[in-house]
Amino acid sequence: MKADNAIDLVGVTKRFDEVTAVREFSTEIKKGEFFSLLGPSGCGKTTTLRMIAGLEVPTEGSILLEGSDVSSTPAHRRNVNTVFQDYALFPHMSVWKNIYFPLKMKKIPRSEAGPRIERVLRLVNMEGFANRLPQQLSGGQRQRIALARSLVNEPAALLLDEPLGALDFKLRVAMQKVLKDIQRNVGITFIYVTHDQTEAMTMSDRIAVMKDGLAHQIASPDEIYNNPATAFVASFIGDMNFVHGTVLENDGKSCLLDVEGRKVRADRAVDLGKGAEALVCIRTERMQINPQRSVENRVSAELSRIVYRGTDYEATCRIGRSELRAVVQAVGWPPELRVGDTVEVAWSAGDVIVFPLEEERDVIKYSAEAL
Ligand SMILES: Nc1ncnc2c1ncn2[C@@H]1O[C@H](COP(=O)(O)OP(=O)(O)O)[C@@H](O)[C@H]1O
Ligand SMILES: [Mg+2]
Repeated sequence: MKADNAIDLVGVTKRFDEVTAVREFSTEIKKGEFFSLLGPSGCGKTTTLRMIAGLEVPTEGSILLEGSDVSSTPAHRRNVNTVFQDYALFPHMSVWKNIYFPLKMKKIPRSEAGPRIERVLRLVNMEGFANRLPQQLSGGQRQRIALARSLVNEPAALLLDEPLGALDFKLRVAMQKVLKDIQRNVGITFIYVTHDQTEAMTMSDRIAVMKDGLAHQIASPDEIYNNPATAFVASFIGDMNFVHGTVLENDGKSCLLDVEGRKVRADRAVDLGKGAEALVCIRTERMQINPQRSVENRVSAELSRIVYRGTDYEATCRIGRSELRAVVQAVGWPPELRVGDTVEVAWSAGDVIVFPLEEERDVIKYSAEAL
């Protein structure tokens, strides 16, 4: 709870009748941080954002803005702004008047407002559009104006709830860069809600990965990708193989597992004793097929499926009753390989992540078997 934090969430819980939308959410968000709330639909992202905005009251816990408890401060008196997916621009007002609106509410005279409006229009790359009406703008331009309007009164934090959700894929990717550049330039704290893991990974300083109201992990994109705290996080971010295993040996620093009668080494601390049932995880892009150099884990497998995806191939390798998928860059793909071939699949001990088997119930599956 330092004064240089933009937002402190302290044990924040929100219940709606029998639904617990958010459970004991605690974190400190630094000034200028790009912080994302990521998770599947219904996990509590919007509710968390609405509590910060003052649109919902926490059932338990407290929220601090720039070090001060705002639990009893109404939404319009909090120094934060929210950007929604549907822009919410006033259709009958020009771009200039739309951006002037929040300043007018604060009784800032037009003479003082003018230069500030010019500055934010420049920031979102929309100079020269001041006299247009919202209907004369494209979706991406409207979103920029909505952003300019929410930045003009210099809030302590900007809260964005799936702001790019209505845009098509290419425009969304372009707007992600625009948003990130703007955030970097103004140095404002962004709290960004998305269910799109790529969006969160590419834009954020830190991400809270949520499921059923619970933040499973709050960490940097790198940490979340390489050291997922739970099997849910491991499955929600990136593309992961999951197979069952049994712990054979564990010295606290590395462990040896049995997977389909083969020995698999994991070079990391695993909190499971000998004989424990485990969920063994390896990223698909860390799997190698017939590598030249020696790798700690190497097993013989049958190629059961090959899918060409342009930049890469996805090869499904059958080992006993389990399948491991390897994603191999197209330039490095051995052209002679065919379905039914026997190959050696290999992966480093450092790339093996292990969870208790019970966590398998939290794994988000997008594979055909899950349908
Ligand atoms: N006003 C409300 N009344 C009752 N339940 C709600 C209300 N708002 C949200 N919920 C429930 O809280 C949970 C989290 O919702 P929400 O925060 O909107 O999730 P997300 O934004 O991650 O999709 C869901 O189960 C949702 O149905
Ligand atoms: Mg939502």
